[in-house]
Amino acid sequence: MFKENIKLRLTATFLICFLFFLQLNAQRWDVPADKKSKNSYIKFDGNTAKEGEAIFTKNCKSCHGDLGKSNGIKTMNPAPPDLSQALTQELTDGELFYILNTGRNAMPSFKNTLSEEERWKAISFIRSFNNKYVQVLSKTDPTKSKLVKINCVFDSLSNKLKLNIIANEKTGVIPLKDAEVSLFVTRYFGKLQIEKTIRTNADGIAIFNFPKDLPGDKTGNVDVAIKVSDELYGEIESVNKFNIGIPTDKLGLTQNRAIWNILKKAPWWIIITYTSIVLTVGAFLLYIIFSLLKIRKLGEN
Ligand code: HEC
Repeated sequence: MFKENIKLRLTATFLICFLFFLQLNAQRWDVPADKKSKNSYIKFDGNTAKEGEAIFTKNCKSCHGDLGKSNGIKTMNPAPPDLSQALTQELTDGELFYILNTGRNAMPSFKNTLSEEERWKAISFIRSFNNKYVQVLSKTDPTKSKLVKINCVFDSLSNKLKLNIIANEKTGVIPLKDAEVSLFVTRYFGKLQIEKTIRTNADGIAIFNFPKDLPGDKTGNVDVAIKVSDELYGEIESVNKFNIGIPTDKLGLTQNRAIWNILKKAPWWIIITYTSIVLTVGAFLLYIIFSLLKIRKLGEN
C-alpha cells in the first residue's frame, strides 16, 4: 500500500515536471524592435490572400495543417500552432515576417527559399483569418529597385570586397544607408553565405572580408550573389563573376568514376567486389549441384 502511494506520487511529480517543460518550450518570440515594426509594401487583398494560400499549401500546410482546423502535426515539441489562433494574430506583421525569415526549432527559415513577395503573400493569407486586422503599409516602393546600382571593388591585398550601393534618382545619386546586405557564392548544391548579413553605412558602403581559400572555377572565377534589402527601395539581387577564387580544375560531378555515376563509370572497386561476389556465389551453387549429383550416383551404386 505504502509502495503504491510512492509510485503514484512519483508519476504525478514526473507528469507535472513534463507539463512544465512543455510549457517552457511554447515560448513567445523575441523579435528585435526594428524588425517588429517592419510592414509589407504589398497591399493585402483577396488576390494576395489567394496567392498566399497556394504558397501556404505548398510550404507550410504539411506542418501547420489547415488554418482554423487545428489539424497540424501534433508530435513535434513545440507543435506547429494553428496560425489562425489569437496568439499568432496578436503578433505584428513585422514579427510574422521575422519568424518566416529566421525560423526556430522545427520551424524552418524561408529567407532563401521564398522571395520577399511570397513571404508577404503567405502572411496576407494568414491575416485573412482575422477580421479585426487592419494593415499598415510600408513605405517601400518596389518599382524603385530598378534605380539601385551596386558598385563592387575587390581589394586583393586585404581580400576585402567593398560594395557601394546607390540609387540613381532624378534628383541625383542617393546612397542607400542602413540597407541589409548579404553575400552568397554559388556551389554545387545551393548558395553558401559569406560572413554575416551587414548593413551599409551612411555613404551606402558595406565591406566584406572574403575568404582566401575559396575554390573558383578553372580560371579562379567565383559567382557572387549580392542581396540587398532596403526599407524604401525593396529587395535587389545581383550576381557577379569575380576573379577572386583559387583556380580549381575540378571535373563535373559525373565526369569521373563515382558511386553515383552510371554503370560504365562506376568505381573499379565496386565493379571488382561485385563481380567477385557474383562469381563466388555462382561457384558455390555449382559446387552444391555437383555434390548433390555425386551423392545420387553413390546412392545408385
Ligand atoms: C517543418 C515544419 C514546419 C513548416 C514546414 C512550417 N512551420 Fe511554421 N512552425 C513550425 C513549428 C514547430 C513552430 C513552433 C516553433 C516554436 O515555437 O519554436 C512554428 C511556428 C510558426 C509561427 C509562429 C506562430 C506563433 O504564434 O508562435 C508562424 C507565424 C509560422 N510558423 C508560419 C509558418 C509559415 C507561413 C510557413 C510556410 C511558409 C511555415 N510556418 C512552415 C513548424 C513548421
